[in-house]
Amino acid sequence: MVTSNLLLTDLVSGGALKKIPSNYIRHIADRPDLKPVQSSDASSSIPLIDLHRLQGSGRSDTIKQIGSACRDFGFFQITNHGIPETLIDDLLRVTREFFRMPENERQKTYSDDPTKSVRLSTSFNVNSEKVSNWRDFLRLHCYPLEDYVHQWPSNPPSFRKDVSEYCTRVRGLALKLLEAISESLGLEKGFIDKAIGKHGQHMAFNYYPPCPQPELTYGLPGHADPNLITILLQDQVPGLQVFKDAKWVAIDPIPYAFIVNIGDQMQVISNDRYKSVLHRAVVNKEEERISVPTFYCPSPDAVMQPARELIDGDHPAAYKNFTYAEYYEKFWNRELAAQSSLDLFRA
Ligand code: OGA
Ligand code: NI
Repeated sequence: MVTSNLLLTDLVSGGALKKIPSNYIRHIADRPDLKPVQSSDASSSIPLIDLHRLQGSGRSDTIKQIGSACRDFGFFQITNHGIPETLIDDLLRVTREFFRMPENERQKTYSDDPTKSVRLSTSFNVNSEKVSNWRDFLRLHCYPLEDYVHQWPSNPPSFRKDVSEYCTRVRGLALKLLEAISESLGLEKGFIDKAIGKHGQHMAFNYYPPCPQPELTYGLPGHADPNLITILLQDQVPGLQVFKDAKWVAIDPIPYAFIVNIGDQMQVISNDRYKSVLHRAVVNKEEERISVPTFYCPSPDAVMQPARELIDGDHPAAYKNFTYAEYYEKFWNRELAAQSSLDLFRA
């Protein structure tokens, strides 16, 4: 049954909350460092890659840049990615409007069941976790679009149109990146496309309300993404941190750039050449923050395994074969943990 104040958005509305409820308080050894290394320190900042050069004579250089970023950071930012700024503005606007709708309208989409293809929920997995996270989120499946669009929220009225346009363009971008990443591994351009079955695409709309005690909790604690690659859009409020050389590095927002990160399935296909890196979101006292990751993934029935071309005497297969459905179930049923789910599938 849906009771009120399940969602953080409703708990904090009115702005009178001075202390966070005890279920959000992390153990003293597991609290965020709100002054991480700044991404402006040149040696630790994630690479910024201009995708314009992927066409024409700059292609092989750009593919090398992408390959080094995947190997050394697991993360990069991209500009000139071809997604119009107006679509990005529309998407962030409709996300804000969604979380500002009256509680009874939002609650129509509420569910705790991670197998549902559209649902609004809070924290990460309220059924399995011991400590809650300072986040509400809407998650939905978006590929093949015609299978899912009619299940999406019909309010705000432009939601389906804005999100359809956005996710179709982001899928095009994901396919271009997968070609470039295949080539960067020395594989044929279409290799990853063929290795992930019928493909899947999910989106999350993360809403992190202002938090009266941000030093005691996380928006999302450190985790690796279970999918293939993530294309993240964030608004202008900082909060994302990436684990690099044993330190947490802040990734400050660049307007209209996307953040791309390698997920667990890319680590598997690359036979550990590319790393699915820990990242987390911290919250702040003053401002709400919105982020919208697109999780590009294999279809549930796709059998995942290291590319044969990347297995040799020095690099034996690091993983057993498994279906993405098996992997995804394991991921959701653990608490978000610094220990990657990948360890459960090692050869
Ligand atoms: C995620 C995630 C980061 C952010 O949703 O998997 O890592 O900045 N989000 O919200
Ligand atoms: Ni993530």
